[in-house]
Amino acid sequence: MTDTPKHSKILILDFGSQYTQVIARRIRECQVYSEIISFDTPAAEIAALRPNGIILSGGPASVYDEGAPQLDQNIFSLGMPVLGICYGLMLMAHHLGGRVIFTGRREYGAGILHIKTGSQLLAGLGEQLDVWNSHGDEVTALPEGFRVIGTTQGCNFAAVEDPERKLYALQFHPEVAHTTRGREILQNFLFRICHCAMDWTMGSFIDHACDQVRRQVGDQKVVLGLSGGVDSSVTAALLHKAIGDQLTCIFVNNGLLRAGEEEIVQRVFGENFHVRLKYVDAGERFLALLRGVTDPEKKRKLIGNEFIKVFQHATEDLLEQDRRNGEGKHGGYKFLAQGTLYPDVIESVSIQGNPAQVIKTHHNVGGLPEKMHFELVEPLRQLFKDEVRQAGLQLGLPKEIVYRQPFPGPGLAVRILGEVTPERLAILREADTIVQSEMEAADWYYKVWQSFAVLLPVQSVGVMGDQRTYENTIVLRIVESQDGMTADWVRLPYELLARISNRVSNEVKGVNRVCYDVSSKPPSTIEWE
Ligand code: XMP
Repeated sequence: MTDTPKHSKILILDFGSQYTQVIARRIRECQVYSEIISFDTPAAEIAALRPNGIILSGGPASVYDEGAPQLDQNIFSLGMPVLGICYGLMLMAHHLGGRVIFTGRREYGAGILHIKTGSQLLAGLGEQLDVWNSHGDEVTALPEGFRVIGTTQGCNFAAVEDPERKLYALQFHPEVAHTTRGREILQNFLFRICHCAMDWTMGSFIDHACDQVRRQVGDQKVVLGLSGGVDSSVTAALLHKAIGDQLTCIFVNNGLLRAGEEEIVQRVFGENFHVRLKYVDAGERFLALLRGVTDPEKKRKLIGNEFIKVFQHATEDLLEQDRRNGEGKHGGYKFLAQGTLYPDVIESVSIQGNPAQVIKTHHNVGGLPEKMHFELVEPLRQLFKDEVRQAGLQLGLPKEIVYRQPFPGPGLAVRILGEVTPERLAILREADTIVQSEMEAADWYYKVWQSFAVLLPVQSVGVMGDQRTYENTIVLRIVESQDGMTADWVRLPYELLARISNRVSNEVKGVNRVCYDVSSKPPSTIEWE
């Protein structure tokens, strides 16, 4: 469990709801720190973390399912406020002497909550409220000490409380947008019931994270693989603030970068931030390895393995350089910093039928820590992506880095279908630059998840002047997405598509056809390989 700062804190016990992360984010939006923990965390452990309150998430299970996730019942007698949501309500009723029945049908959708006055949880919300339901079990009798504070047409126990014991529960989901005033319910819980302070700010996070890094690292050296993406860039800026020259960033140019990428990284980090930056130009090594390779998985593997080798070599070079400069007493590069984010570290609860069990990406270039015996420094482990961007801005990173679109580790290699050659790279880079510049000029670049060009191994007939041509095809892939797990193609204005298409086919030598990819994910992926 993480060492959290001395501020207000809400712990969320995760019973496998698809909304658990949404609850955490809603609470953080109220400037209160929240942390998701496993449903079976013992009460004593929870008490030791001294939260201001506890939330029991919803979940897909029925309390009567075999193997349904159970909590340590002592949580209800810790004297801490507890808010049960949906499955959390069922658990409360089930364990404290109420009655829950399994209806065998799930109730989804909108409803109207009729509020009874006098409850802190629903204070200030008037007499009725739009709410969103998604549940299977139903409470039919309340435990002793509880009273009803809200009903819906289908449910007499939609909102209940036992204020003496500080126990509260809702049948519906206050965290989802369809419960239009759900935020106020959560705020009531946080501020009226749990007496939280609004002290989770980016400034306090950065100060705390810097302290933590200094304590972890001492006077040792840290190395970071800087890709120019948001996560590694914010990690670099934060570590630089915390430990200055004890940090060295390694930027590997694998020859598969977009046009101008290496300049941006060197300008921002080397010149503006004065971060100690080692630039490794390994383009030729990568391209030599990729010669003749067309299988996507083989490409990815080759690139991933080579990256580890190049990185390892670079750290050896750094050590050698330090030795020459007489700075060799620091015991080597003991720490590796990584831009791991909160969604990567939350353990998803494995419950049958749980839609929260998202497929983990195969993407991250792993293997470095295992192969090189590094100890990890991961200062962003507690942050969601939008919080990482805020931290980046606060640390002084420019918008072009902070709001940069994701770019895959294997780079343009997975956007050149078939063999990767210098000529094909040049074609794709040129087309890609046009896509980016037109997207930016039309104010679309920052509105979409990704916008890029793909080069197909397909030639087709065209005509230019009086000449017949037989040239390459570029596909435009422009998608919107929340997290890359699902995506949809963007309905760009025709004028913009026309401009990009005209420019690419007129200006990029070797291209005579431009197509727009109108596939969503699933079933397609965002990248073409
Ligand atoms: P797919 O293509 O699987 O991509 O729909 C989902 C998101 O992940 C990015 N992506 C990668 N990111 N290394 C990365 O760091 C990779 O190998 C990689 N492959 C895909 C992709 O750009 C999209 O945002």
